[in-house]
Amino acid sequence: MKQPPRRSIIIRLGSLGLAAGAGPWLSACGGGGSGSADTPASGGSSTTPTPRSLRFDFGVASGDPLADRIILWTHARFADSDDEVDLRWEVAADANFASLLASGAAVARAAAGHTVKVDASGLPAGQRVYFRFRQGDVLSPVGRTQTLPAAGATALDLAVVSCSRYSAGQFRVLAEVTRSAAQFVLHLGDVIYESGADEDLPEAGRPSDPTSRCITLADYRRRHAQTRSDPDAKVMHAALPVLAIWDDHDIASNAWRDGADGHDAARDGNWAARVAAATQAWHEWMPIRTPDATDLRRTARSFDFGGLAALHLVETRLLARDAPVPLDALLDPATATATAARLNDGARGMLGSAQGTWLQSQMRASGARWQVLGQSVPMARMTLPVSVLGALAKAGTGFAGLFAAKQAVDDYIVARQTAATQPAALTAAQQALLDPQRNPRWGFNLDAWDGFPAEREALLTAAQQAGKRLVVLAGDSHNAWSSRLTLADGRVVGQEFTAPSVTSPGLERKLAVLPPAQVAQMFLGMLDDLQWAETERRGFLHLRFSPLEVRAQWAFVSSVTAATWQVETSAERVYTG
Ligand SMILES: [Fe+2]
Repeated sequence: MKQPPRRSIIIRLGSLGLAAGAGPWLSACGGGGSGSADTPASGGSSTTPTPRSLRFDFGVASGDPLADRIILWTHARFADSDDEVDLRWEVAADANFASLLASGAAVARAAAGHTVKVDASGLPAGQRVYFRFRQGDVLSPVGRTQTLPAAGATALDLAVVSCSRYSAGQFRVLAEVTRSAAQFVLHLGDVIYESGADEDLPEAGRPSDPTSRCITLADYRRRHAQTRSDPDAKVMHAALPVLAIWDDHDIASNAWRDGADGHDAARDGNWAARVAAATQAWHEWMPIRTPDATDLRRTARSFDFGGLAALHLVETRLLARDAPVPLDALLDPATATATAARLNDGARGMLGSAQGTWLQSQMRASGARWQVLGQSVPMARMTLPVSVLGALAKAGTGFAGLFAAKQAVDDYIVARQTAATQPAALTAAQQALLDPQRNPRWGFNLDAWDGFPAEREALLTAAQQAGKRLVVLAGDSHNAWSSRLTLADGRVVGQEFTAPSVTSPGLERKLAVLPPAQVAQMFLGMLDDLQWAETERRGFLHLRFSPLEVRAQWAFVSSVTAATWQVETSAERVYTG
């Protein structure tokens, strides 16, 4: 077991928090325990009683740093009323606020769910700063954050997380992010889960609030509040600036432009109204810069880390994503041909032409050493043959079905190995398995980029033609993968690293009867572009950029539900572009 060094910031924040009456900071640092929206931790009430009893129940957060500005966030309300709260915000070079760099006024209003966001500008580039909110002597907890370097950066340390489902376990992964050496956190979506308590993991002991699935603005606000009541989430947000995008569960399961698997209009009402509610709550609660207040679905934005890396964040769910192609229809010989034509239709996409054009121009215009695309779903080609997909579709989660699928996998892998080493020894059955006409390969997750191959090819071709060193980051799968990104002709054009989930279960639950190491080997044996996989544990991706290379390492926790846990880090994977 390797335990990353505990950050000194925690101790400082803890002492500052105590000074401001924010006791939970220290209890949160141990990584255990949890908060609850019903019993919120006292954020920063003054030790001096005040008539209005102002509360900062969810701490502070910061995000979307630029070289001269950063978004500061808090939630402030009076315990006894919904009245708006007049606040001052302060940014200082020191944790004692002796040297103020910027300050101003802000108001927490019920119309924004009592959240406040400030775009604090005029800050020095590449500098650690401290911030807080106040009303008179009543102080919020203190946050620490950091602006981007203006130029000449030679190092960048980034933590990447995804899928922080409150009802699936403790946010120990976020505590490990805070303890790590990361300077910035990228959250690739499923910040919240919209599902009802009927989908909770009972062993986590963290029932969803509200208990129903989220439909209205009040529902989504309450779910965000519950998620951010977690002490490890609060400490991470106070200690590190966060850049974030959403994925489907921030709205509804497998969301696309005009609907979702998890949205039944007869049951859940109008889709556009649900999207409006979910996106409003998301913009209220996430410390991000809202690019277009007239259309909250628009969240694409770019960040330049001092010329070392440009991070482009795109929206893949609500603006343009076309209806999914059903895998069943590809596996059914009666519908396979027509469905394959639809899958490969060049007009289908998840970015859409406007956002795709914006992304390509951002990458072309950037002189940064690394072009990094932050988006929700895995991009690498992860296609399996129909012989395996069919067996998996029939397998369920039972012992017999999964072992039949395992046999289909073994047969395919043995045929591939035979073709590579002794092609003359291939049997007729093995030749049939390897024949792309008789046993075609399709993506096993058509909600990811394998469901939109034409748009993926166009994007990767544009990056390759622009001569960019491309790194793609993804979440959504709940497991950790490292893959080459290739064009249809096999040329390698970039590298993908995925962040495992903070709490959401992954393949280890679906393939529970198989040892995790065997599951990883199965995928490595079948997928041409996959180079490494960990399919069992929750964790985060840690990336260190330098001008010469990107070093990727994953940190995993052994459990998000057991009383005790250990942390283990993977070997580093180095990408040189
Ligand atoms: Fe997820």
